Amino acid sequence: TPYSLLILPGDGIGPEVMAEVVKVIDWFQANRGMRFDIGHDLVGGAAYDKHGTPLADETMARAQQADAVLLGAVGGPKYDDLDFSVKPERGLLRLRKEMDLFANLRPAQCFEALADFSSLKREVVAGLDILILRELTSGVYFGEPRGIHDDNNNPENEGGRVGINTQRYTSGEIRRVARSAFELAKRRGNKVCSMEKANVMESGILWREEVQWVHDNEYPEVELSHMYADNGAMQLVRNPQQFDVIVTDNLFGDILSDAAAMLTGSLGMLPSASLGAKMANGRPKALYEPVHGSAPDIAGQGKANPIACILSFAMALRYSFDQGDAAVELERAVERVLADGVRTPDLMGPDGGTPVSTVEMGDRIVA
Ligand code: NAI
Ligand code: MG
Repeated sequence: TPYSLLILPGDGIGPEVMAEVVKVIDWFQANRGMRFDIGHDLVGGAAYDKHGTPLADETMARAQQADAVLLGAVGGPKYDDLDFSVKPERGLLRLRKEMDLFANLRPAQCFEALADFSSLKREVVAGLDILILRELTSGVYFGEPRGIHDDNNNPENEGGRVGINTQRYTSGEIRRVARSAFELAKRRGNKVCSMEKANVMESGILWREEVQWVHDNEYPEVELSHMYADNGAMQLVRNPQQFDVIVTDNLFGDILSDAAAMLTGSLGMLPSASLGAKMANGRPKALYEPVHGSAPDIAGQGKANPIACILSFAMALRYSFDQGDAAVELERAVERVLADGVRTPDLMGPDGGTPVSTVEMGDRIVA
């Protein structure tokens, strides 16, 4: 049976980079005997323009059914003044929430040819290949109680207000993301480093205990270490190659994955995946998308780098379709094109290279 794939190009450069992914998919269908049942639909501003909502119920239902959803990017200046409830970003948030995508995978991979784009020295990052796994649906961004309250009967408090968020994790929430981390590590370097602040946070103590429990009971063959998240931030910059899979909570993962992204250079290179529970067919609910946004400053000019979106599809091949060899083949093609000096404008360094458009970059990768 064919793999079902729902494509949501979105706004700005989303449709431009997605067109190059479609070429890649066609290549795999024509040359590697894969069959995809592809649906296209609207999300973000494009969906608002047509339906008055950034994600129609019918699109949501299609996403729930699909083996994988591939999303471009949403948003743009045209929609900046819209009411919060219909902003383009709400479409993306609804997908993540209703599909219950609790595991956010952010690889930080540094291709040799781009090592000089890193914020760090070439020798620290060349060949880097690590994966940050961020818990995405719980923790301090969602915990109750939350709010800003008056604190008037406290004369010591200048300004008289208090702001509250709650870091809250259940053991079940920690165990399921820990399982994802160990499963991922088994396909990679067989090593997991869990990051929290068990020295100062109760939720950190529970996090550490539950990750250790899953390890001892279910994945004793995977190497597990624990690190305080602040030290983790230092180690990511000092010696990132010591890591394979890093698993951490929503807040620390937000920060650590952005820091790790800068180890690798351009925003136009960064893929991501968000995975949920397994469906009846054994595949996880899955949403793949580049880390970048809709880049209104370069939209419609043929300048967008399609590689982040293409590498997001490589992740879909690996994690949704069990086509790990095909994923490697695609990543090698990207590596090869970069090694040949082929560059979209965002990748042009002082040493030059061959400047190409979005479409030409896609063509070169397919070739
Ligand atoms: P952005 O990621 O769209 O752009 C930041 C900078 O990086 C811009 O200078 C842009 O030209 C460049 N850039 C981004 N992707 C690129 C690519 N593939 N190739 C070459 N250059 C690239 O972030 P920004 O400017 O903060 O937000 C623009 C819009 O995108 C906003 O409406 C924002 O809300 C939305 N956004 C959407 C996201 C999503 O759909 N997941 C994520 C981040 C922002
Ligand atoms: Mg962030």
